[in-house]
Amino acid sequence: MPLSDESIAKIKEAVDILDVIGDYVQLKKKGQNWWALSPFNNEKTPSFSVSPNKGIFKDFSSGKGGDAISFVMEMEGLNYIEALKVLAKKYGIEIEEVNSEEDKRQASERESLHIVSSFASDFFKKHLFDSEEGRTVGQTYLKERGVLGKTIEDFDIGMAPSAWDGLSKALKNGQYNIEFAEKAGLLISKEERVYDRFRNRLIFPIHNLSGKVVGFGGRIFTNDKNQPKYLNSPESPIYHKSSILYGMFQGRNAIRNKDECYLVEGYTDVISFHQGGIENVVSSSGTALTVEQIRLIARFTKNITLLYDGDEAGLNAAERGLNLILEEGSNPSVVVFPDAMDPDEFLRKKGFEETQKILDQKKDFIDFLSERLLGGAGDDPVKRANAVREVVKSISKVPDLIKKNFYFKRCAEKFGLDENLLISEHNKIKFSERKYRDVREQKPQSLSSQQSRVEIDPKMLLAPREAELLKIMVLFGNVDVEGHGRLAKYILDNIREVDFSHPSYSKLLQFYKSLDPEKDYPESEDFFRDQELETFKETVIDLTSEKYEVSKNWKAHQIHIPTLKEVLGDKMSTDIFRLKWTKLKTLIKDNQQEIKGLQEKGTDEAYDEIVKLMRQQKDLKKKEKQIAKLLGNVISA
Ligand code: UTP
Ligand code: MN
Repeated sequence: MPLSDESIAKIKEAVDILDVIGDYVQLKKKGQNWWALSPFNNEKTPSFSVSPNKGIFKDFSSGKGGDAISFVMEMEGLNYIEALKVLAKKYGIEIEEVNSEEDKRQASERESLHIVSSFASDFFKKHLFDSEEGRTVGQTYLKERGVLGKTIEDFDIGMAPSAWDGLSKALKNGQYNIEFAEKAGLLISKEERVYDRFRNRLIFPIHNLSGKVVGFGGRIFTNDKNQPKYLNSPESPIYHKSSILYGMFQGRNAIRNKDECYLVEGYTDVISFHQGGIENVVSSSGTALTVEQIRLIARFTKNITLLYDGDEAGLNAAERGLNLILEEGSNPSVVVFPDAMDPDEFLRKKGFEETQKILDQKKDFIDFLSERLLGGAGDDPVKRANAVREVVKSISKVPDLIKKNFYFKRCAEKFGLDENLLISEHNKIKFSERKYRDVREQKPQSLSSQQSRVEIDPKMLLAPREAELLKIMVLFGNVDVEGHGRLAKYILDNIREVDFSHPSYSKLLQFYKSLDPEKDYPESEDFFRDQELETFKETVIDLTSEKYEVSKNWKAHQIHIPTLKEVLGDKMSTDIFRLKWTKLKTLIKDNQQEIKGLQEKGTDEAYDEIVKLMRQQKDLKKKEKQIAKLLGNVISA
């Protein structure tokens, strides 16, 4: 519900950023700013700074930053209004909410549903501990599965009585509203009779992010094949299955701290992992992963690892899930457990260390997809082409251009193919998607729009190329590259005539150009954490963060891949050529368009201009071919 403007102003006025952040992390004063270990990851060096004057924080390890409100949003996984409410409470500010009568009615209904659900959860728990069948059936079952007391507490596990009216009687005795209990999915009424939905089952309450019970999963105690293994609460005004994840409430801090979230299939997998000390785990509880669930996880981490037993259904689900995750801009990996064991089974049979080993061998989506598609037939050309296409299709879903570029590189390495080939394949996919969308939306398609889409737009490649050069300049500016002198100077000398297209990159380039080439260049990215250079911080973090991501993946495969530094000389020259080549392509394309425009005009002056441009065009194309030769690209005339 929205807050009144006045309330928002009051809260903002009361907020003291040091005080708010001080509730979560220990700050130390250093100059104008306060520093701390990042609350967003496990790094051991202070990378989190707070500027009380500006009222902002910045975390250099994750790139997160903002004011006190955004800090609370990050830490608690809340939206803006929710974070404001938390702060209002902290400062004892009474808030006015502006809402309609209908909003109020719905809020009060939800409140009532929360109340009966919470009552039911307590009731099931009591039944597990205080009744005869709780002891003989419920507790015995849990003991057999090795579920310990602390775990039962953490997850509020309970038992539904075998009687048909156990809960409904208790609700009536407590004078709870039966209608609400029905709406919450706890009771079912049929022909004037009301009975319990959950009977003689082990109960797993499902909590929302703030810890309120919103629904239940109930498992039978036997192997009776005539009954469903699990019964689940239906959708209700407080239980939207598509946006809830089982275990999120218990696991959210671990998920943020580990900067990774394991996604499993079932209730028991979540519980078992927790008990085994792996707490950054959630489950979509039997339903297919949704976009809302991915966004919920993204409030805490962008790294989602899918854990599946290796059967065909599981692999299909993994493939579908990782494409959704890519589309949402998060980073998917996959772990497949052997012998169709689910994570719970594996952990119980093999123990923590074996499990951790398997988790550490997670595959990024490129490895997962290619291995799955190639199977044993690594050399079959048809299969290979097919696999490449599927992987490129997945890459095409990634919204971030720089990340996309990185994936193209990984994929090119993996299949031993030219990156440009993959990019052209990518553009074909993008084009055909567009084509179908146009058909669906019944938009007529002009020939010229078709042509311009099939072509690789060289502008798309410009920013990633610029990023590559800046990245090595920031990281290795002073490194002496054999035969060429210092890296930053060499690059600057060689791209003197080039301007960067990306606004932040262009600024950073200007900064490098303004430095005295006889003196030292900034030593590593730490330099940019300096106060006056605030404007570059974010760009530099973006540019250099990729190396961590890369090295993690490489390490996981235990294959020695030369580090960036080891291939610096080659990379530097290739990147310079690549940038120039791409730049030339954009110039050629712009020229082409200009010529076309002039041709349509058809005047005498236009004609003179066309002749001039055509000459330029010839020149540009010659240069392009020269560079292409150096790069080993094959370009059709
Ligand atoms: P599983 O059959 O893998 O169950 O279903 P499980 O979680 O491993 O349970 P145990 O170890 O046999 O006790 C995975 C998930 O699918 C949903 C549940 O959320 C379950 O945790 N499911 C399964 C249902 O909703 N209904 C069913 O009948 C079966
Ligand atoms: Mn299981």
